[in-house]
Amino acid sequence: MCGIVGYVGNNDAYPILINGLKRLEYRGYDSAGVALVGDGCTLNVYKTKGKVADLEAHASGKPLGGSTGIAHTRWATHGEPNEANAHPHVSQSGNIAIVHNGIIENYATLRSQLSAKGYQFKSSTDTEVLAQLIDYFNTALDLPLLQAVQAALRRVIGAYAIAVVDSRAPRRIIAARKSSPLVVGIGNEGDFYLASDASPIIEYTDRMVYLNDGEIAILPAGGEMEIVNLDNKPVELNVTRVEMNISQLEKGGFPHFMLKEIFEQPDCLNDCMRGRVNAQGQPLALSSLRFHSKRMLNASRYIIVACGTSWHAGLIGKQLLENFAQVPTSIEYASEFRYRNPVINPSDVVIAISQSGETADTLAAVELAREKGAFIYGICNSVGSSIPRNTDTGCYIHVGPEIGVASTKAFTGQVTVLAMLALSLGMARGTLSHDEARQAVSQLTRIPGIIKETLERINPQVEQLAKMLTYARNVIYLGRGYNYPVALEGALKLKEISYIHAEGYPAAEMKHGPIALVDEDMPVVVIATRNAMYDKVRSNVQEIKARRGRVIAITTQGDTAMGDLADECIALPEVPEYLEPLITTIPLQLLAYHVAVCKGKDVDHPRNLAKSVTVE
Ligand code: AGP
Repeated sequence: MCGIVGYVGNNDAYPILINGLKRLEYRGYDSAGVALVGDGCTLNVYKTKGKVADLEAHASGKPLGGSTGIAHTRWATHGEPNEANAHPHVSQSGNIAIVHNGIIENYATLRSQLSAKGYQFKSSTDTEVLAQLIDYFNTALDLPLLQAVQAALRRVIGAYAIAVVDSRAPRRIIAARKSSPLVVGIGNEGDFYLASDASPIIEYTDRMVYLNDGEIAILPAGGEMEIVNLDNKPVELNVTRVEMNISQLEKGGFPHFMLKEIFEQPDCLNDCMRGRVNAQGQPLALSSLRFHSKRMLNASRYIIVACGTSWHAGLIGKQLLENFAQVPTSIEYASEFRYRNPVINPSDVVIAISQSGETADTLAAVELAREKGAFIYGICNSVGSSIPRNTDTGCYIHVGPEIGVASTKAFTGQVTVLAMLALSLGMARGTLSHDEARQAVSQLTRIPGIIKETLERINPQVEQLAKMLTYARNVIYLGRGYNYPVALEGALKLKEISYIHAEGYPAAEMKHGPIALVDEDMPVVVIATRNAMYDKVRSNVQEIKARRGRVIAITTQGDTAMGDLADECIALPEVPEYLEPLITTIPLQLLAYHVAVCKGKDVDHPRNLAKSVTVE
């Protein structure tokens, strides 16, 4: 996700825009830019790779006048983080500048249509395509700017929050939204503020208008704000008063980034799947496979390399790839892989999973694999980071910046991409029929809604349950099959933010030693959902209860039998076993969070940890 700020009114726009961008840097920080419209119909655009401070340095000493402006801090989705790809993007006519937050799925089609009409492109972004499309309707077809914006947006498939300025109309901003947030602040003397959320605006006004999907706002300095839809029909303004403070707003009203990121997983997974499922007439359409199918399909084996939570996602990926694509898949701790002189063949495909894209061990493992001739596939979140730059291709997870040190939405984003990859490879290799793939995709697209319902339903219960674990000194997490990696991940979450020792095991491993740990002081969290392994897991739970262990069971709604056995049950909706990790991880994320809060820990900045381990 990116951050958008706009201002039009009686004051200089530049300082308001820069201050606003700084409030939004948590939304994206790989490049930033500003467009200023002066009263003399001048349009000055300054943009640079890096943070807002880099933009200030870049713009210093340049003409910064103008009471109308838009600005942007970027989290790259299409195109490397660099000056050319930074927003604002300017139309070919030079009159129109636009900033955008979202993903335009059909940008490639639109780009080729515009190229055929003589448009030249300076960037590889989807946003520039929108700028030129608006320009086409405005300049080539001579539509007024508002109608040109409406015509262009009717052609767009995807998500957008945009702000548009025109040097020929210096006292006006046009804004529009679909699926990406945008809010207008109504100032006192006919000033208007615009932003991705209220945090850059709240210091100027508490009167806000949150745009809804399909709405376009026209903001004339000194005039009356109007809202219309794409067909130019007027829409009623709904002004609300925002009471939150800035810190709360940056966290979306949540007390910590980690809880915000847990709750935004439904939206993030929709963004992750956007344009990749039920696209181009196919159940799945991963561009990385379209352009590199030969190497990916002819792989003799897949080797997954990762660290920490990403390694847990990789463990799930191993099962998905072997289950659906039926290609031998190994999973390696990158830190071990890089030093043990592994056998790597040119026919191997190495899959590197990393949220930050900067983890030193994973980067070193990628470089080693490249030296030995393997094909490298990246699954990362940070566009243009070191690991993706060292891969042959890959698939970004598009979950937006993950600020909390404990990874949550990146984990479910990684698992979602691995599921799409495994299903796509299975279809291409003929180990999965199109019908099976369609059914699987239909199940996958239900997951965000299930997570949303589950979060709202179980959060109060888990918050209460967390008090039971606050004084625990050790906790065991158990799971089987696809849920064994989830047990590992749940234990890691608890360890890293509450500092309680926890271990994850395959449930059947208990009798090979760990069950000696079990007594009335040992809480055991068991993932015991209704799947093929249920009866085996139930036996494991009975063994624990027989030794007076306290069992918290993650169950399937309606499973009363487990309810009679376990001390506490957190019930989840039923989903196919291969998608269960996307659901069973949710209560474990919440449990770790609430235990850490009960213990008064610094949830977003746990001791001894960094968000990205860029050193060995
Ligand atoms: C997970 O909660 C931790 N923050 C940590 O294990 C992390 O997953 C690991 O350092 C790998 O980071 P990466 O995904 O950015 O490579």
